[in-house]
Amino acid sequence: MSHDLRLSIAAELERTRARTEALTDAVDEADLVRQHSPLMSPLVWDLAHIGNQEELWLVRDVGGRDPVRQDIDELYDAFKHARSDRPALPLLDPAQARAYVAQVRDKALDVLDRVRLTGRPLLDDGFAFGMILQHEQQHAETMLATHQLRTGAPVLHAPPPPAAAVPVTGEVFVPGGRFTMGTSTEAWALDNERPAHDVHVPGFFIDAAPVTNGRYLEFVDAGGYDDPRWWSARGWAYRQKAGLVAPLHWISQASGWSRDVFGRIEELDPEQPVVHVCWFEAEAFAAWAGKRLPTEAEWEKAARFDPATGRSRRFPWGDEAPGPDHANLGQRHLSPAPAGAYPRGASPLGVHQLIGDVWEWTSSGFEAYPGFGAFPYREYSEVFLGGDYRVLRGGSFGTDAAACRGTFRNWDHPIRRQIFSGFRLARDAG
Ligand code: AVJ
Ligand code: FE
Repeated sequence: MSHDLRLSIAAELERTRARTEALTDAVDEADLVRQHSPLMSPLVWDLAHIGNQEELWLVRDVGGRDPVRQDIDELYDAFKHARSDRPALPLLDPAQARAYVAQVRDKALDVLDRVRLTGRPLLDDGFAFGMILQHEQQHAETMLATHQLRTGAPVLHAPPPPAAAVPVTGEVFVPGGRFTMGTSTEAWALDNERPAHDVHVPGFFIDAAPVTNGRYLEFVDAGGYDDPRWWSARGWAYRQKAGLVAPLHWISQASGWSRDVFGRIEELDPEQPVVHVCWFEAEAFAAWAGKRLPTEAEWEKAARFDPATGRSRRFPWGDEAPGPDHANLGQRHLSPAPAGAYPRGASPLGVHQLIGDVWEWTSSGFEAYPGFGAFPYREYSEVFLGGDYRVLRGGSFGTDAAACRGTFRNWDHPIRRQIFSGFRLARDAG
């Protein structure tokens, strides 16, 4: 058991690093140290930060080893320097950063070989390794968002997402009643997903698919961005200040709207979920459409509740880890897939593409579950609880399969658009 766990952790570390390298090797050194947007770090910061977190937790804490580079902790502490200030720091250059992460990895693998994967909450089921794996995977998604913001010739390549296999339209009724939200049993679930607790959710309708570009375009064409009726006061103020007229990366051309997809200009695919909208845009669209965003509990019930057993599953399709037929995850494709592309990933009630494609904004703020305890450090979740954030669920095409599950909670400010964010609609029953 412990031997298999070690082997699978080592394989996951390698697989995850390959993605980090693909994202950082895709550009030249000047590009790695450049700030592509004040919203993002230079890619070389993410790279060394990944190594630094691995050093802090796996080499020093779990392994009890001497520091590799104690002098750089402060540079790579996300709380010490805003993203916009990071390019001016005396960062490791690309060659130094690559050497550093490789050196840390060697030591982390040595720790993995020797440490007992039990007897300490941080080590049970290899949790610390799972946490650090997910950390690197989360930064791979952040780096992918940086790639989307960079200008110049395209450097990332991937096959297009699968076409729709079944028609998916309309909405699904989710019956009222209690369901189990969150988890106490998922080995690598992070602190904010815990503990499992029962929530009563009144019956509601939820769309079978996320809102598509085609449907969103109707809102744009109907003048939705110029009509304060659909926007909250805060949303309208932001729309005015930022001059929003369409989702981020939409390009207005004589022939209509196109999209900048990692440096390629593509015709807007009306069947793909809309991506790069902020929470305020999602809220305005929902008002225009006469619906609303789901709450976080509604989203999770739609994704996990099995009406046949009354049990909450790990994923909409069951308890198996996501495979390529279940969901568009892991940067296998560089855009969301059209509604109906993943029939095997649907929930028992017939809700599609809850996992993968686009992060889905919910109406909920980021709050602790009853019985929450920060673990193993307050800065992952606790310091953000109760702040000006909205919860996003389900992961995107940029999210690693191992950093995404029915209980996983992401959060961001309601103005955020550079993330791979979309949404689906819900409404009250009756
Ligand atoms: C959970 C995605 C909001 O990227 O800010 C990465 C994850 N935390 N390093 C983020 C994270 C520390 C976090 N989110
Ligand atoms: Fe981080």
